[in-house]
Amino acid sequence: MADRFVDYKGIKVYYSPELDGGGMEFGQDFIPVVRKRFGKVGRCCEFGAGPGFIGFSLLAEGLCEKLDLVEINEDAVRAMEKTIKKNRLEGVAEVFLSDTFKDVDRKRSWNLVVSNPPHFDGGEDKYTRDMRIYDPGWRIHREFYRDIRMFLVKGGSSLFVENRFGSSPKLWKNMIIDAGLKYEGSFRYKTVGRIPRFSDVVAYVKGEKGFTKKSSVGEVLAKTALHAAYTIYYPYYFVLSKK
Ligand SMILES: C[S@@+](CC[C@H](N)C(=O)[O-])C[C@H]1O[C@@H](n2cnc3c(N)ncnc32)[C@H](O)[C@@H]1O
Repeated sequence: MADRFVDYKGIKVYYSPELDGGGMEFGQDFIPVVRKRFGKVGRCCEFGAGPGFIGFSLLAEGLCEKLDLVEINEDAVRAMEKTIKKNRLEGVAEVFLSDTFKDVDRKRSWNLVVSNPPHFDGGEDKYTRDMRIYDPGWRIHREFYRDIRMFLVKGGSSLFVENRFGSSPKLWKNMIIDAGLKYEGSFRYKTVGRIPRFSDVVAYVKGEKGFTKKSSVGEVLAKTALHAAYTIYYPYYFVLSKK
């Protein structure tokens, strides 16, 4: 049940902890990166959206006008539908329950697709256990790059965040070129010295008196420790491709 939310500039994004794949943490690096590289884009999609932390943040920051969200997990889709309803974003944001792009309206076209996808190769058994982490034989990535041409406008871009413990930029370069797209490069967003933000570690929990700011001490400590570790040894890098 997605009864927690984080507030991004007035958009309350509902989630439950088991849907969080890092979009509230390192996923927030998309905001400065998109601002710097693209400025404001028209139509944006978050692929493998989970609760939509990244996509709804881009919308809240005024970096995109319309947002589509693609996700295979029904619980995450329900959470995003709740976010859309509670924030009255009907007509602005739309969710597709879909395995890669199989059930996405073919008429959609996007200027930018962002994603924090599963970062590790693993068997189907691992994928069944946690779809946030594993991409069996890189099937999801391959299908994404194979099909994204249908949805990107000419000159449109795809920006993924990846984890160097699970992959190398060379893997993506080859996959992107094989799919007939332009590989624009891989880069790290400078996080050294990044200070853990309190807003990243405080969740909202529904209680008898409505929503209150509340996270368990363990949760706050764990997330703060994670931020400290990222500052020293940051594993995430971006991969940019273009149609
Ligand atoms: C690392 S998590 C990221 C979740 C969220 N975007 C975030 O940043 O917290 C990867 C997401 O991809 C979704 N996913 C996995 N396989 C997928 C597929 N075949 N099609 C669409 N989404 C998929 C997972 O359910 C999960 O929500």
